[in-house]
Amino acid sequence: MKVGIIGSGGREHSICEILKRSNKISDIYCFPGNAGTSKIAKNININIEKFEDFKNFILDNKIDLIIVGPEKPLVEGIVNYLERFNIKVFGPSKEASQLEGSKIFTKKLCEDYNIPTAKFGVFVSKNDAKKFLASSNFPTVIKADNLASGKGVYICSNFSESEIAINEIFDGKFGKAENVLIEEFLDGEEMSYFIISDGKTIKNFGTAQDHKRVLEGDKGKNTGGMGAYSPSRLINNDLEKKIINKIIKPTLQGLSKMNIEYKGFLYAGLMIVKDEPFLIEYNVRMGDPECQTILPKLKTDLSKIFLSCCDGELDKIDIEWLNKKSLCVVLCSKGYPDEFKKDIEIQKLENFTQSSNKYLFHAGTLKKNNKIFAVGGRVLNFVSISDNFNEAKKNVYKEINNLNWKDGFCRKDIGYKVIS
Ligand code: AMP
Ligand code: GLY
Repeated sequence: MKVGIIGSGGREHSICEILKRSNKISDIYCFPGNAGTSKIAKNININIEKFEDFKNFILDNKIDLIIVGPEKPLVEGIVNYLERFNIKVFGPSKEASQLEGSKIFTKKLCEDYNIPTAKFGVFVSKNDAKKFLASSNFPTVIKADNLASGKGVYICSNFSESEIAINEIFDGKFGKAENVLIEEFLDGEEMSYFIISDGKTIKNFGTAQDHKRVLEGDKGKNTGGMGAYSPSRLINNDLEKKIINKIIKPTLQGLSKMNIEYKGFLYAGLMIVKDEPFLIEYNVRMGDPECQTILPKLKTDLSKIFLSCCDGELDKIDIEWLNKKSLCVVLCSKGYPDEFKKDIEIQKLENFTQSSNKYLFHAGTLKKNNKIFAVGGRVLNFVSISDNFNEAKKNVYKEINNLNWKDGFCRKDIGYKVIS
């Protein structure tokens, strides 16, 4: 079977790597991939935003299954388009992807189906929003409605900070804004909860805790993710039942009432407040770096899981996991998430040897003349799985020290809440 994966990050490299274990896979294509995927897949540099060219490539090369890594093509409807040509695609439709593409869509769904989430209001002008904020309690959370790569969220501790947020959003910092979302601040601990769905059956796909902030102690600016560990320390049977019954099932029922089927990964970003789950946001894909953290623990053939979802037969397979702890640390270019230098060579990568409990997934890397260069903010993901988090952490930082890449940095405290 030939498989194609859309994306170029650590998430997509980990999907390639875990798919490669399957004896059903003959070829893997990555659109466009990175230096890591180029070792195990064919990196194809075509503009997938031109859906027709992309479809022609898939048909010409007889690719049997397409997996969509990031949210943008999903929100833009790539699944709907490719399915019109009978191409098998793993990922939700454009309609279902509104769960991530529009925060207001999701909030309204929460309201209609009693899904626990922060109290909120939607405001259509700067004036209305500011009038409301003048009599609000702080901290408060202000969000742009559209896809903003995790950046369109402001936690404001006073009125003047909230004024800046409102002005920036309505002035178009995250694209054209017709409205803004103002939310109650939830004080709890975050957790990422994943399921996979074929439209009829859902199965758990693991839990994780990521570290989104750039500085140690979870301080500083938001990033794509500086590291993660799995499972989350918060998960237990009771909490999982609440998440499924109060959040996931009502969401899928709500979509179903709108004639929307959900096929793909669904990532619930949750805040756990006194053992109760609240939905902060949905993502219609795996998390990055949560995907790299979770997938190495998978025992079941990943290609079988994707195919069974596309064929509506997820009920026919068991998804099995290693009962291990996993920890991932992201090595970034110095300066990230602000300005950073590009095209910096990374040496000594060939010294890393992968094993069943030690992985290196590339993100912003490019191979040129047999050398590997950093071209993005988040560059490499080191993952270790072990019986305990302590051991996993030690193994990961040992590899990062061995590499000793002078132009990079990482957080030294990934997993601090689960490691004494
Ligand atoms: P989002 O893009 O909606 O996930 O928000 C980014 C981050 O902002 C989340 O990971 C949380 O850390 C924080 N956040 C968002 N909404 C809230 C909220 N209502 N209360 C507290 N923190 C929040
Ligand atoms: N790790 C956060 C995300 O993928 O959105």
